[in-house]
Amino acid sequence: MTRRTLLISAAALGAGAMAACTSSQSDGGKATARSDRFGVGTYNTQEVADELRYVEENIRPSTETDTKRILITGSTGGIGQLAAAYLLARGHSVVAHARNEQRAADVRRDLPAVADVVIGDLLDLDQTRALATQINELPRFDVIIHNAGEYGIANREILNANSLSPYLLTSLVNPSADALVYLTSDLHLGGDLELDELRGDGADITYDDSKLHVATLAMAVARRRPDIRVNAVAPGWVPTKMGFHNGPYAPDDLRAGYMTQVWLAEGNEGARRITGNFLFHQKPETQVHTAVHDPQAQDDLLAAYAQRTGTTLT
Ligand SMILES: NC(=O)c1ccc[n+]([C@@H]2O[C@H](COP(=O)([O-])OP(=O)(O)OC[C@H]3O[C@@H](n4cnc5c(N)ncnc54)[C@H](OP(=O)(O)O)[C@@H]3O)[C@@H](O)[C@H]2O)c1
Repeated sequence: MTRRTLLISAAALGAGAMAACTSSQSDGGKATARSDRFGVGTYNTQEVADELRYVEENIRPSTETDTKRILITGSTGGIGQLAAAYLLARGHSVVAHARNEQRAADVRRDLPAVADVVIGDLLDLDQTRALATQINELPRFDVIIHNAGEYGIANREILNANSLSPYLLTSLVNPSADALVYLTSDLHLGGDLELDELRGDGADITYDDSKLHVATLAMAVARRRPDIRVNAVAPGWVPTKMGFHNGPYAPDDLRAGYMTQVWLAEGNEGARRITGNFLFHQKPETQVHTAVHDPQAQDDLLAAYAQRTGTTLT
């Protein structure tokens, strides 16, 4: 079964049913409670912890790239933490983002080289706005990776964390970074913009809708800010806490799931001029929802965001 058919099957059946067909919850207990460094069983899987150790032991500062200042939202676990670890090991200055003080302490322990940690729970839009203020008080960033995401919680909360928060941070962080990266998903293909819902209470916004929002937002920002590099990245279905939400099964390569973000952040060679792309493993994704590259759909989304939040993207 290919990655594409797996994703479509998972979307159609519900990922839980898919996981139940392919893997047992008890096989290895990779995402279940274990006390370990890097939060195995609490905020990370064994796979992420193993990859963090690989980065720690093998990745060294680069002599070929300028040192960048990079902010990664949701860098306390999963592929956000892996991208942070890798970029730190390459010698960049990385500011992490945590939802609360406890998670900030966790990431300071896991990644002691982080330059700073900004704090805000993206489920609460007041905290997202306060987070933008914290970011604006720091020296300007070269790169911001909008990575934080939620899955398997109430739809209104999904809308806040995955869609409205990246929009607010994009609008309120000033000046913008030179490069913006937005984490989307292949599951965006099953989504709709649902603009009335977005303007309303968001009760019917799904994860797939939120990932269509963020991909379309990325392309809208790329069109409005031609002087910077703005891209959306689908990381694949990878074995993080989110990837294992419905059971310990994920078909895609974990390292490939964060290296596109690293590549865009470093901005070397092929990544130097890339903007306005929906990328999968450093290549333009061929199957993308029609709304993503549609200027009218982008403008309609921005208008709905502005109406909902009272904040306009300039
Ligand atoms: N894993 C996959 O298969 C997959 C597939 C497609 C797309 N993605 C996307 O990739 C991104 C990273 O996912 P992942 O797999 O690395 O997930 P993960 O392991 O669950 O990590 C998510 C990160 O985001 C943070 N976060 C979540 N909600 C937050 C909130 N309300 N406020 C502040 N921080 C928050 C988490 O903090 P805590 O640790 O405190 O929860 C964690 O640091 C997401 O945008 C996701 O939608 C993942």
